[in-house]
Amino acid sequence: MPLLEIENLNITFDTGDGTVHAVNDLSLALDRGETLGIVGESGSGKSQTAFAILGLLARNGRATGSIRFDGDEILNAPARTLNRIRAERIAIIFQDPMTSLNPYMRISDQMVEVLTLHQGMGRRAAEAEAVRMLDAVRIPSARERIRLYPHEFSGGMRQRVMIAMSLLCRPDLLIADEPTTALDVTVQAQIMALLQELQGEFGMATMLITHDLGVVAGFCERVTVMYGGRVMERAPTDPLFERPTHPYTRGLLNAVPRLDRADEAMAAIPGNPPNMARPPRGCPFRPRCAFAGEDCAEMPPLSQAGPARQRACHRTAEEVAA
Ligand SMILES: Nc1ncnc2c1ncn2[C@@H]1O[C@H](COP(=O)(O)OP(=O)(O)OP(=O)(O)O)[C@@H](O)[C@H]1O
Ligand SMILES: [Mg+2]
Repeated sequence: MPLLEIENLNITFDTGDGTVHAVNDLSLALDRGETLGIVGESGSGKSQTAFAILGLLARNGRATGSIRFDGDEILNAPARTLNRIRAERIAIIFQDPMTSLNPYMRISDQMVEVLTLHQGMGRRAAEAEAVRMLDAVRIPSARERIRLYPHEFSGGMRQRVMIAMSLLCRPDLLIADEPTTALDVTVQAQIMALLQELQGEFGMATMLITHDLGVVAGFCERVTVMYGGRVMERAPTDPLFERPTHPYTRGLLNAVPRLDRADEAMAAIPGNPPNMARPPRGCPFRPRCAFAGEDCAEMPPLSQAGPARQRACHRTAEEVAA
């Protein structure tokens, strides 16, 4: 049984501009200890998928389908159940740690609260554990710095604190939503290296959400590429990078800077993601796709294309990968 199993997830938002179809018929599974990358441009439905898992959709949002965690249905589960899961089993880290840290509380108090409230630890034991966790995320002089307030840390250090907080309850699943986007490139690399180390050490399943295919390369075993709230292609990481078989994956890969082809121009995909209140008919990528034909006005099914690989495209894998 997979740790997380999403089936036919649909997420819509009611807006003054009509219904936004943010996620359409999404299915995916994640095993214990596995690392999965969810990649796509802005608005492709990555964060809302994570929010639906955690019961954090905005009030105008509605989710249907099924999300099973460790065998239990958790989609639209009662607040009590979801609170418990968020406190004990699924942790999330966001792009901006200040959204999750309380600016008026010392780091020590925030971390101790998590442990005393949810793990039933005494204050002293909790403090010792909090310092241990700050050590684990390589915060120098953790014993002293745990007394500081969030704003007294640099952006990179704050993200380390956030990661330490998220690991306190030893989650089975860590969702990292653009965890390094707000950081500069060197700090980004350090945080990703740290996450990778901790993933190995703690063994939690990890869902890494990013718009940057480059970030998933060293981290994830499998990648799901999303566009317009749909899965375009999914495959184990290496084959996906070696031979992208969906026009959108190809476009994303061309936009990743690579050392081995510095002479070739790096190209962003022309055009913009669709307005999901009025998505194009058929394949959402059609208006920007160099391979598009008349038939793409009909959404291609997500079908098997090799071992552990699926793609949703009317063109053949050979045509696209050539
Ligand atoms: N409360 C809301 N009301 C209306 N539309 C919303 C709401 N929240 C999200 N959306 C829409 O849902 C779609 C998917 O959003 P989502 O946040 O999942 O994108 P994303 O892939 O995480 O993008 P980004 O890389 O910018 O974070 C977008 O079109 C977004 O505008
Ligand atoms: Mg997002």
